[in-house]
Order: sequence, then C-alpha cells, then structure tokens
Amino acid sequence: MPVATQASLKGLTYQQLADTGCKICLNNTYHLGLKPGQDTLAKVGGAHALQGWNGNLLTDSGGFQMVSLLELARVTEEGVRFLSPHDGTPMLLTPEHSISLQNTIGSDIIMQLDDVIATTSPDKARMREAMERSIRWLDRCITAHQKPTTQNLFCIIQGGLDLELRKACCEEMVKRDTPGIAIGGLSGGEAKDAYCKVVNACTGWLPENKPRYVMGVGYPEDLIVSVALGVDMFDCVWPTRTARFGNAITPHGVLNLRHSSYATDFSPISATCGCICCRPGGLGITRAYIYHVAAKETVGAHLLTMHNVHYLLALMGRVREAIVEDRFPGCPGGRWRR
Ligand code: GUN
Ligand code: ZN
Repeated sequence: MPVATQASLKGLTYQQLADTGCKICLNNTYHLGLKPGQDTLAKVGGAHALQGWNGNLLTDSGGFQMVSLLELARVTEEGVRFLSPHDGTPMLLTPEHSISLQNTIGSDIIMQLDDVIATTSPDKARMREAMERSIRWLDRCITAHQKPTTQNLFCIIQGGLDLELRKACCEEMVKRDTPGIAIGGLSGGEAKDAYCKVVNACTGWLPENKPRYVMGVGYPEDLIVSVALGVDMFDCVWPTRTARFGNAITPHGVLNLRHSSYATDFSPISATCGCICCRPGGLGITRAYIYHVAAKETVGAHLLTMHNVHYLLALMGRVREAIVEDRFPGCPGGRWRR
C-alpha cells in the first residue's frame, strides 16, 4: 500500500494512482482528524469522497504518527496526549476517539490505537506495559467501533523484539477475532536478523486464514523475505519519498537519476517495467529526461512516483502469482518451511 498521508499521494492525481495498478492506499487518522477535521469529513461523506478515490483505503490509528512526529506526545492509560501542531492546545487521542474518526473517514480497513515503543528501547518493563496496554486499547476499540460490517478493524501485535511478549500478545489478540492482524513496532532500525525472528515467530502463532500486515515495511528485499515468512500486506512511504529525491527502483537496484551519468541515457527508467513511463506505447520517458527536469521541475518527481509505485505493486503481483503456482522460492504454498 502506497502511503497518502494527507489524502493525497504526493504529486499524483487519483487517476494516475489507479494507473499504477494501486487498489488500496493508506491515509492517516491523525492528519485527517486535524485537517480537514471530523465535521468536514462527515459533511463530504468520508475520505473516499473527499479524494475522489474509488479504490480501498486503510487508515492508521494516529498514535504511532504522533509519538514519532511530536516530541511532546505522552502516552497514558487514557490515550495519547499531545499539543496541537496548529495552535499548541493540549489534545487527547483515545482509542474511542481514533475509532470515531476512522468511522467518519469511512476507510475500508481501520487500525486499533496502539502503544508503540521503539524496538531498540532497552526498557523491558515499558515494553511489556505497551504490549499489555495495546491489548486493553484493542478491547476499547472493538467496543467503540460503530460499523463492523463495513469497516474491518485490525489489531496490532506489539512486544518489541522479545518473543515471549510477542507470543503473549498474539495469544490475547487472536482471541479477539479481528478480521485482520498487523505486526507493529518494527521497521524502526532493528537488525534484519532480529526483524525476521519476530516476524517468523508471530506468523507462526497467527491464524492462517486472516491477512497479516507488517506496518512500515517497503524495501523490495524486505517485502520478498517477509512474504516468505508468511506476511500478506505492507505499507511504506519509501517508494514515493525516494522518488522525490530522484531515485528509481529497478531490478538492478536503486538508480539516482540526478547523477550526471544519466544526462545522455535515452533508455527507459527500467526497460522491463510496465508502468506508464516505461512501457512501449506509454509516455516514452527516458532517464535523460528525468535527469533534465530533476533540478527545477516537479514533473520528474511525479513520473518517478508513478514508476516506483507501479514497480513495487508489479513485484508483489509476481510474488502472488509465484505463490499461487507454487514456485515461490523454497516455500511450498508460499509459506516458510518451518
Ligand atoms: N506504523 C509503523 N509501525 C506501526 C505501529 O507499530 N503501529 C502503528 N499504529 N502504526 C505503525
Ligand atoms: Zn516504470
């Protein structure tokens, strides 16, 4: 899922986003709750209508964004306290308020409010508290949820890199029988080995028949490895953000098209890519063109955004096909050999 934080994938119209093959993207409750705000969202009939987007939407619950974006956010049992970035007034995001906002936004998948601690934190007691509080907040979210037949509430497994905490969290949250399950608290700078151990352990404890979603993951290698470990869904700002820095994702690695070596490279961004920029009969965009416009024009960022999003969605499409045809490397049925 590409990330359209403020109800817009930066630089793209929704027609262009649809052309990448995107069927679902992510919005943030925290940002939409501040602007345009709940009243306007209610008036317009939710975020699909606001954006003119006919595809699906997933909203993150907001707490993670506040804690990662705002120095002054403080977590208590009630919820996350923070100062409004607009005028500094004290505000409180509770599980109930997050769900109420997400009900008004009308996203197809809504996320529980969770208490997120960096995996690199050495404070084991705080890590346990955050995991246990996330279970209590899940219960409050389930009670508050007004539209369970049209909006799918996902729980978020916490517990840092501690497998005992993760196991306890999986056991409790699986009992709540939510339609899908996220694994949170990762992609925060932990070693790959530690990341894989947590994901592999959690997917082993989760039901087979529900989507598993690792939040915040998006490098091509991490996507492939995580699918092998039993994950179905991902979101990441990286493909779109890196596009705005002139970076193109290709089968041969990430190319920075602002480098002068591309000044006279008249080949497509990626010869095997089927995106609107690269495909035969498409826009005929060359690396040299992106190099040429990169410094002064935003169109290069828009084109690379379309390319990068298409590239990763096509990669995941090929992964899905390989699983269905039982030829995903080393993983019969698409699952890791345990
Ligand atoms: N985005 C990336 N990681 C997380 C997480 O642990 N919780 C939430 N709510 N969002 C995230
Ligand atoms: Zn392309």
